[in-house]
Amino acid sequence: MININNQLLNLREFNKYLTCNSTEFFNYIPDNVEPFIDLIVTSPPYWDMKQYGEVEQTGFKQSYDDYLNDIERTFEHIFKLSKDTATLYINSDTLKRNGKIVRLPDDIATRLEKIGWIHKDVIIWNKGKTLPWSRKGQMRNTFEYIHMFTKTNKYKYYIERIKTVDELKEWWVDYPERYSPQGKAPDNIWEFFIPTQGSWGTKKDFGDKKFKHACPFPPEMMARIIKLSSDEGDVVFDPYAGTGILLATALNLNRKYLGLDTNPDYKQIFEQVTKPLISDKIDEINYYYQKQDKLKNLLQEAIYKLRVLKFPKALIKSLTKEGSSLSIKAALAIEEEMTSEEKEVKHKIGKATYYLVTNTEIKEEMEYFLENLISKAPFSKYGLITDVRFISPEEAINLLSSLNNTLNLYSKGTVNNVFGHVTVEEAKSIIEDSILNLSHTDKNIPPIFSNLQIKLDDYNEIPKEKYVKRSYQ
Ligand SMILES: C[S@@+](CC[C@H](N)C(=O)[O-])C[C@H]1O[C@@H](n2cnc3c(N)ncnc32)[C@H](O)[C@@H]1O
Repeated sequence: MININNQLLNLREFNKYLTCNSTEFFNYIPDNVEPFIDLIVTSPPYWDMKQYGEVEQTGFKQSYDDYLNDIERTFEHIFKLSKDTATLYINSDTLKRNGKIVRLPDDIATRLEKIGWIHKDVIIWNKGKTLPWSRKGQMRNTFEYIHMFTKTNKYKYYIERIKTVDELKEWWVDYPERYSPQGKAPDNIWEFFIPTQGSWGTKKDFGDKKFKHACPFPPEMMARIIKLSSDEGDVVFDPYAGTGILLATALNLNRKYLGLDTNPDYKQIFEQVTKPLISDKIDEINYYYQKQDKLKNLLQEAIYKLRVLKFPKALIKSLTKEGSSLSIKAALAIEEEMTSEEKEVKHKIGKATYYLVTNTEIKEEMEYFLENLISKAPFSKYGLITDVRFISPEEAINLLSSLNNTLNLYSKGTVNNVFGHVTVEEAKSIIEDSILNLSHTDKNIPPIFSNLQIKLDDYNEIPKEKYVKRSYQ
């Protein structure tokens, strides 16, 4: 237990918002304390741009150099108390002085690198709110910077948790090899609108005290960073906590929090306004991630099935291109179970054996051509472990006899929606008809049988992009 300005901090439990100057906080921490910080998300004062109440604060009335020295000292202490897996997200912005840009985010980054923080990424945060005016030599400013740093290269970064299933182009079912089955990682321009005062707390909620803070973080943005770079039970820290949106979001996502701010009013805002508001909001945030997880599972299943079933169609198209003497009369696509080692292979999402039924005599060159074809794009992009064999109609009939289930039939080149189910006997007679050229072949694609079934209706929940007609003047 540590006593900080008469506030007790338990270094096992955390969950504290302390009224404390972050440059002094570290004087209270004993030297032998093990690093305990897992994630830091913070927005320090932008030099002397704002005064956050009548209290001591970094930047205000300081020279730019003194300000940067304070920041450097603070982040040096934070570095020592951060675990090797820790990440730091620091939000800041440029400002203008004497008609010139002061590159504050870069100057902070340079100081942090000096300490040992590894600069990993720059994210543009579109805050959605702009100043209503522009001035000579400056557009209306709508974005700020988020610089990401890590202590080592062993940092936590769970990108799959924040991937999303955006609206897909209408034809995604026809090109499953072009879509990632895990959804899309966010790009480096983030759009999170800052909460307007009225939307997350009013003067009334806060009693007679003035409820005001110049720049609260959006809770949705905090949730994204917390999920991306921490685990449940981790310690999330903000040395310039303000309204404490980060801290309350961390608490609701089962992390521990620690926040510092020199202004005691903000601690009161945190307790009386931020905490209840975020606990109301968290259901909405959780619902968003649960929905995305559901969509990602659905997309993953769809992409997998679509790829397994498109593969033989695309292969037959390539093999029987004009000039080829090869004629494929039917195909069997048998989905196989992957071994645990195969599941570890990067980018491999499935395994299948394909039988191409042909009465053309297969020469060695054709086998070679096939092998070569499969090893290259686009076939190598399907992420499948494949075994492709040419078989004669007799072998196909024998093979079918060894199967005792019904099969799914994909007919007339449609491989993204099952045409119907057939018994093994029905499959044999369809193959026989196909050999006599009685039934098939639309666009040269013969009937394809598979143990895998796909029905497009099962994927209606995956959002589709509306067709937008663009006009060009
Ligand atoms: C840009 S605001 C942070 C806002 C915060 N991200 C939020 O969501 O509300 C900066 C905060 O740093 C606080 N501050 C300034 N100097 C400080 C210092 N030396 N130690 C701790 N807090 C400080 C200010 O009171 C202010 O609340």
